[in-house]
Amino acid sequence: MNILIKNGFVVGDGGVKKEDVCLSDGKRVKATAGIAFDKVIDAAGLYVMKGFLDMHVHLREPGFEYKEDIESGTRAAVKGGFSGVCCMPNTKPVCDNPAIVRFIVEKAKEVGVCKVYPIGAITKEQKGEELTEMYGLKRAGAVALSDDGQPVGSGNIMRLALEYAKTADILLICHEEDKEIAAGGVANEGYHATIAGLRGISPVAEEAMIARDILLAEHLDARVHIAHISTRGSMELIRAAKKRGVKVTCETCPHYFSATDELILSFDTATKVNPPLRTEEDRLAIIEGIKDGTVDIIVTDHAPHHTTDKFVEYNYAANGISGLETAFCLANTYLVRSGAIKIERLQELLCKNPHAILGIEENEGDITIVDINKKVKIDKKSFVSKGKNTPFDGWEVYGEVAATIVDGVVKYERGVSE
Ligand code: DOR
Ligand code: ZN
Repeated sequence: MNILIKNGFVVGDGGVKKEDVCLSDGKRVKATAGIAFDKVIDAAGLYVMKGFLDMHVHLREPGFEYKEDIESGTRAAVKGGFSGVCCMPNTKPVCDNPAIVRFIVEKAKEVGVCKVYPIGAITKEQKGEELTEMYGLKRAGAVALSDDGQPVGSGNIMRLALEYAKTADILLICHEEDKEIAAGGVANEGYHATIAGLRGISPVAEEAMIARDILLAEHLDARVHIAHISTRGSMELIRAAKKRGVKVTCETCPHYFSATDELILSFDTATKVNPPLRTEEDRLAIIEGIKDGTVDIIVTDHAPHHTTDKFVEYNYAANGISGLETAFCLANTYLVRSGAIKIERLQELLCKNPHAILGIEENEGDITIVDINKKVKIDKKSFVSKGKNTPFDGWEVYGEVAATIVDGVVKYERGVSE
């Protein structure tokens, strides 16, 4: 398959250059006169980026296919510009053994939309009590381990997990939440939760656990990756730890740099997410961390839920935002167009860094073509994900994915329906 992407602005590490890109069976080649193209994409006015890798997605299969499945989730991924996703293990059963890892790998291959890298659990059934067989999970294809959705509450289990993971050379991704401090809260503790009459979650619930895991990783000289950070305090802890040389990396999500807890005043349960939307001060601190390199990657934490999980009182609603199809336009609007970062840095956050952190080689056949100037009105009805749970419905932002190419094959093209 030969593809020509012509007239686009190609985003490289060092800058943006107007040039044609020619792909032959997934390899970049020089366009020579002799090549017959199976497909020509006119990318005039568009940016040609390296394919995005989302390190934090919930595909819900096996067990919660009514919320999402591998096919619908990967279709949402390519529509969002992602040529690869890592899927979290909070499925039913939990992805805590090699058989489930292999099932996900096989099913994703069969579906054949984008790359899917399973993440195994740190503890059996994510109960925080007994460690999983890390080597077995890794051998079966798990690229990292996490109990995401649940914290590893016991400091001793976390310490053991870090030690074993270091020996097995596999990354731990930590969902940081002290459940005692969170105390059953449903929104960020502060002004908005108070006037809404909702129970608050202190930022310290997140920060205390991050501090614990940074200290453990430092003590053990082990690697740790902190999931979905949302507060100014978390940013300060990680910034200071990195300065000391701790092997810590971290991620944040579009909703933490695009929105604040003011949105909860609508009582729309699409605004309920864990960690919760925070204050404007936190939002600005997250952007600062993205600018100065404290934040390594942007992930969606795509957490699709069914209406039945969300169409209930705020206190009872499931946590999570369906994020794959809004990540690019939010990042483009609130980070690039706002002038906080350049598009090269966005590419680093969405492609280079997640690959480097996981030790997965970038593939030159993975390409995402984006239209950064297109004004769009987010419409949840247009989502291909089964999860329509977004607080961004109706928002007017900039940026649209024009095409996603995976291993040299066009898997999504705007305006073309199958
Ligand atoms: O909001 C969230 N939803 N946060 C999590 O940590 C888990 C996720 C889910 O699985 O729905
Ligand atoms: Zn998650």
